[in-house]
Formats: sequence, C-alpha cells, structure tokens
Amino acid sequence: MWGIQSSIYGTTPRAQTDKNPIRKAMRKTVLISGGSGMIGQRLSAVLAQKGYGVSWLTRNPSRASQYKCYGWDVENMQIDGEALTNADYVIHLAGAGVTAKRWTARRKKIIADSRVKGAQLLYQGIERCNRKPKAFLSASGISYYGTGHATRVCTEEDPPGTGFLSAVCVEWEAAARRFENLGMGSVQLRTPVVLSLDGGALPKMCALFKRNLGAALGSGKQGLSWIHLDDLVALYTHAMENELNGPYNAVAPDRVQNQSFSSTLAKAMHKAFFMPRIPAFILRLYLGEMSDLVLKGQWASPKKVLDTGFAFAHPSLELALRDIFSKSI
Ligand SMILES: NC(=O)c1ccc[n+]([C@@H]2O[C@H](COP(=O)([O-])OP(=O)(O)OC[C@H]3O[C@@H](n4cnc5c(N)ncnc54)[C@H](OP(=O)(O)O)[C@@H]3O)[C@@H](O)[C@H]2O)c1
Repeated sequence: MWGIQSSIYGTTPRAQTDKNPIRKAMRKTVLISGGSGMIGQRLSAVLAQKGYGVSWLTRNPSRASQYKCYGWDVENMQIDGEALTNADYVIHLAGAGVTAKRWTARRKKIIADSRVKGAQLLYQGIERCNRKPKAFLSASGISYYGTGHATRVCTEEDPPGTGFLSAVCVEWEAAARRFENLGMGSVQLRTPVVLSLDGGALPKMCALFKRNLGAALGSGKQGLSWIHLDDLVALYTHAMENELNGPYNAVAPDRVQNQSFSSTLAKAMHKAFFMPRIPAFILRLYLGEMSDLVLKGQWASPKKVLDTGFAFAHPSLELALRDIFSKSI
C-alpha cells in the first residue's frame, strides 16, 4: 500500500496564486519540505521574489501561509501526492530540531527519521510521478565529518566521521543521492551553524552576551564553521540554477575558533567580554552527548563551492555579524 494520497489535505485560502496563464505556465515551481522553518522561510521569500512558484510540505497544511501548503506525515509515510505533480525542484529542509531537546534514544530516532524517512517518502512519491522534478536539493550538516578536527580543514573528499550526527548525515545524504536513480540532479549542502536572529543557535548565544555574560566554551580552541543565512539561501538558488551535483560544504571562508567567535560576537553586540571560559565538564553535565557539538567542533573548506563561481556576500564573521545586528535595530 502506497502511503501517497491525492489531496487528503486542503490548501490554505491565502495560497499564492498567479492568474496570468502564460506567466503561470513558464514559472518554475519549488516544493520545500520544512519550508516553515528558519531557512525555509527566508529561502521561500527569495525564490518568490525571483519569480519562482513556491509551495511547502508541512505537518500542518492548514497553517496560515502565503505559500501553497501540502500535508505529509513522515512517521506514517503519508504524503499529499498533489504536492509533487508540478514541482520542478524539491528542497528537503524538514527535520526535527537537533538541539531542541536532550538526545534520548527516542529523540535521536525522531531526529534521524524526520530527515531520512522524509527523503524516502519524497522518493516514493516522485517515483510514481510521470513528470519528475529536475533536481532534489537537501540540507545536510558538516557534522558529516564528525567532531574533533579543529586543526584539520575537511573537504568533500574526506570520509565521514564518527558519532550520532555523522551517522545521521551519512544516511540523509544516501537517501538524497538515490534521486539520481530517477534521472534527477541531487545536491547536499553540508551546513554549519547558520547565523540569523530569526532562529537557530545565534539568538540563544545572544541571551548570555546581552547580559555581558558571554564566554568561550571549553578550551575555546575548537573550530567553529558558520554561514550567514542570506549566503546559505543564495547558495540554494545558485545550486539550483547552476545544476550543481553532489555534496558541497556550505561554509563561509573565514575560519574561527570558539574563543574568537565569542569575542567577535561580544564586539558586534557592543558588550563586554571578560568572563572565564565555561569548563567542558559543566557543558557535558548540562548537555550530555550533545556537548560534543560545541566542545569539539570542526572546520570545513568552501573551496568546492567557490570553484563553482559562488561569491559569499558575507565572507568574514565580523562583517556578517555587523550586518545581522544592523538589521535588528
Ligand atoms: N539552522 C542551522 O543552523 C542548521 C545547521 C545545519 C543544518 N541545518 C539543517 O537545515 C534544515 C533546515 O534548518 P532550519 O534551521 O530551517 O530548521 P527549523 O527552523 O527547525 O525548521 C525545520 C522544519 O522541519 C519541520 N519539522 C520539524 N520536526 C519535524 C518532524 N519531526 N518531521 C517532519 N518535519 C519536521 C518543521 O516544519 P513543519 O512544522 O511545517 O512540518 C520545521 O519548520 C534542517 O534539516 C537542519 O538540520 C540547519
């Protein structure tokens, strides 16, 4: 029994429409799973502004959105088949928050399944479509390389590392690469910490810095790769429009360590930076296994993406943070 149904879910009354039949016929449509998230919302706005038709795949299709919303239920492998019939590109961003809750066995399964089974469900749906999308673009993480490579800069040629998130990325990317079997392009953007005040890690970090309590973590020497949200969104459109294929490190060229990241953040927020580093054992007690993410870290090289002609608008951390905070005032 295929878990694919034609329109079990309704669409929102305010869904995006275009009454001009010629423009509508020529317009490319992008279906984004997890479009309601931090990256998805900004990407949707940029794509819509560029003239693409945008629709979302969401667990809550009756949500208020300016984009057409289709429903899916990854746990039960159910998807509104109509979502896929007109998609020229599919961008898979859906995934349960990696740092939202403590990593129990149950939480780990939710983190992995929402990404891997999500890609598999999309594959099943697209396999049954007569007209296939041109490409499947998927988020991945630089956690692919594992943690603890502070002195080495990982490239796409490197093998995966060890640890929970690395294993998730390996399965997630394998599920994404399968779309090549359907004659489609497949891109995996290995993403580091995405800098934005709209969500992700930065607003959480800012909470302490705002009270002049910001501090480096652990040794402070661990590598911290990052990208400005606007650059990541530009990279998704660059990958689509330039038909990139395979894995790419979506990281800004400016490599910083945890200590210099923290001091640059304090400076960008006009806050004092005098607190001693937070010892590793406290973070281990508080975060458990997840503490590896902040205590070990990793660096990745953007060379492959730069070689495709992509230009970062925010290549340096100082300028990226300055841009972000200038918009928050
Ligand atoms: N933000 C970062 O710093 C960062 C770094 C590395 C990688 N990434 C990856 O990039 C992707 C997008 O990131 P983001 O920051 O935009 O994430 P986000 O804001 O947390 O949004 C992800 C979306 O996924 C959907 N979702 C959540 N739990 C789900 C579940 N259990 N099953 C199916 N769908 C679920 C939600 O959409 P609905 O509620 O509409 O279903 C949510 O809006 C994620 O896969 C993330 O791992 C992000």
